Amino acid sequence: MVNQTDNDVLKRSAADHWEANAETWTKHARAGYDIYRDALHTPAFLQMLPNIKGLNGLDVGCGEGANTRSLARAGATMTGIDIAPTFVRHATEYEQKEPHGIRYLTADALHLPFDDAQFDFASAFMSMMDMPQQGDVLKEVFRILKPHGFFQFTILHPCFVPPFRKNIRDENGKAVAVQVADYFANIDGSVETWWFSSLPQAEREQSKPFNIPRFHRTLSEWIGMITAAGFILEASVEPMASEELAAQEDVVADTRITPIAWIVRLRKS
Ligand SMILES: C[S@@+](CC[C@H](N)C(=O)[O-])C[C@H]1O[C@@H](n2cnc3c(N)ncnc32)[C@H](O)[C@@H]1O
Repeated sequence: MVNQTDNDVLKRSAADHWEANAETWTKHARAGYDIYRDALHTPAFLQMLPNIKGLNGLDVGCGEGANTRSLARAGATMTGIDIAPTFVRHATEYEQKEPHGIRYLTADALHLPFDDAQFDFASAFMSMMDMPQQGDVLKEVFRILKPHGFFQFTILHPCFVPPFRKNIRDENGKAVAVQVADYFANIDGSVETWWFSSLPQAEREQSKPFNIPRFHRTLSEWIGMITAAGFILEASVEPMASEELAAQEDVVADTRITPIAWIVRLRKS
């Protein structure tokens, strides 16, 4: 059990890690190395999304803003918040060069700087599993949503990407199975170190890997936190690459064995 002091330390440390990752993450994501996001997860997320034309939306953990811009292009008036000032600076600079009508703020998802019932919907792309106290974040998102508003978010799949995951490959290098472990490990802030898997070797030699604090929860814990916040679980998708996409982008081929992401849509009744 973590106490309040531990929580404060975890929160500060997670924020510091993301601030340290932000410069390289922005550069590599914008260069197209986040292939899971661009080729598979964002299209699946947008396909699952209800019509957001004319709605007022909040993107939680917006990073450099690529997905916030996708939602603005789908017709929503967007606000993006992120805990790392460098991400917010990059997102804002992009907005100044290419306006999408988005306002960006540096803020912690645990303390959203908005009055109650301000937004028609909220989104979070691959950020909820990077935050401590997700149960409290869910309550905070519930608070800022209007009645009947929705929250759609995507996270690393709790079952198929627990703290340990390894692709098992055949003699041709084709992923044929996935080994997972530590599903029940109580992971609160352990730092995982990686690059985007398609980052070329030459770039790896020039850049430091990301240090990502991980806050793993089991599927049942997620469902418990969702319902405790007052939400109804309305829809769930586990994106799988089509055969064509898997052939084109080898990196995402393992999602034909098990999903990497879990996308859910929650409703405030
Ligand atoms: C994996 S990145 C995803 C960024 C972006 N949503 C995207 O899809 O490209 C996770 C993001 O969550 C942000 N984050 C982590 N903890 C946060 C918190 N407590 N409040 C707000 N943002 C947070 C990080 O700074 C980072 O930008």
